[in-house]
Formats: sequence, structure tokens, C-alpha cells
Amino acid sequence: MKQLQDKISSEGRVLSEDVLKVDSFLNHQVDPRLMQAIGKEFARRFENDGITKILTIESSGIAPSVMAGLTMGVPVIFARKRASLTLTEGLISAEVKSFTKQTVNTISVSGDYVTAEDTLLIIDDFLANGQAALGLLDIARHSGASVAGVGIVIEKGFQQGGILLRDQGIRVESLAIIDSLADGKVSFREEAEV
Ligand code: G4P
Ligand code: NA
Ligand code: NA
Repeated sequence: MKQLQDKISSEGRVLSEDVLKVDSFLNHQVDPRLMQAIGKEFARRFENDGITKILTIESSGIAPSVMAGLTMGVPVIFARKRASLTLTEGLISAEVKSFTKQTVNTISVSGDYVTAEDTLLIIDDFLANGQAALGLLDIARHSGASVAGVGIVIEKGFQQGGILLRDQGIRVESLAIIDSLADGKVSFREEAEV
């Protein structure tokens, strides 16, 4: 997606060989116009898949997911990373390992909102090692819902998440795929340009 690649090129900051900072439009400040374009692009790619609901994870997955949900006319549910005061019953949970933080977190959604009748589109901001996406897929499996695919804003193609998911036969649609962050420079994979 050209508009997204341009934004990454102009505002993204390469922090190391494997970390890209995009706080100015995705992870801290949010650019609503760009998010809307991202939402429309996810909607276009999954328009024939009978999606009934979008499943994401707090916090940075929410903005692109809401924009996709608005375009597709379906609700958005975000998995929580911490226990909630009011959301305590009928939870469906999964474990998510973090390679970067060396921790294991439990993520949860309410079984009231993800059911066997649903066809889900899973969306997240980044695909790195794929642990968050695998956790969301686990939740979908427990709920009995089907999953049409995974939509990612920025995939780091040099990490294992994309391979891990696609090897399981899961459809992954990434709007920008970064092949390298070497020498402080962002190199995009060509096929991702739409
Ligand atoms: P994984 O799910 O792919 O295994 O991710 P990992 O544990 O490696 O990453 C943990 C957090 O760091 C996730 O956000 C993930 O989106 C984010 N992340 C991974 N690589 C990058 C990167 O290169 N740049 C940026 N900006 N973020 C990256 P999170 O902690 O769940 O935070 P949030 O959703 O609340 O923002
Ligand atoms: Na995320
Ligand atoms: Na994130």
C-alpha cells in the first residue's frame, strides 16, 4: 500500500536492525486519515470472505481495526491483556509469549462476542514473531469461530511470524512488508506494493 509505505519512509525511525518506531501515526499518536485508508484496504482485500467480526488485540490493533470495521459494517472486538473489573465471566483465553520481553501474558475475550457463528478477520498493527496472532487464532479456535485470514499493517518479513502463519495455511494480508532495517534504512518487499 503506497500511502502507508510513504508514511513509513517519511516518519518511521529505525531504532535497530529489527525495530521500527512508528509512534507518530500508529503506536502512540494516530493518523485517522491514514487509518481510514488502511481500514478500506483491509475491507477491499476481504470483501468476499463473509466476515462477521474483526478480532484484534489492545492497544495498537484497535485503530486500524475500527476503521476496517466501519467500512465493512461489522463489530470489532479487542482481546484484553489485563484482567478487567467487569469482564470476568465466560472468558476465552490464550497465552502469548513475548520474545522481546521474555514474558508470557494471558489475553482474553468474552465468549459472548466471539461465537461459533462468526467468521473472523484478525487484525494487528505489527507482525514480528507472530505470537500475538497465534494467540488470537487460539481464541478463535476455542470459540468455534472460523477465521478468514489475518490482516497486518506492518509485517517484518525478516522475522518468523509470516512464515509461521502461512505454513499453517493461514491467509496473511500485510499492507507493508519490510525485508530489512539494516544500515538504518527501511527496505520494502515489492509484492506488498498495491
Ligand atoms: P510478536 O507478537 O510478533 O511475537 O511480537 P513481540 O512479542 O516480538 O512484540 C511485542 C510488542 O512489540 C507488540 O506490541 C508488537 O506489536 C510490538 N512490535 C514488534 N516489533 C515491533 C517493531 O519493529 N516496531 C514497533 N513499533 N512495534 C513492534 P504490544 O506490546 O502488544 O503493544 P501495543 O499493541 O499496545 O502497541
Ligand atoms: Na499489537
Ligand atoms: Na504494537
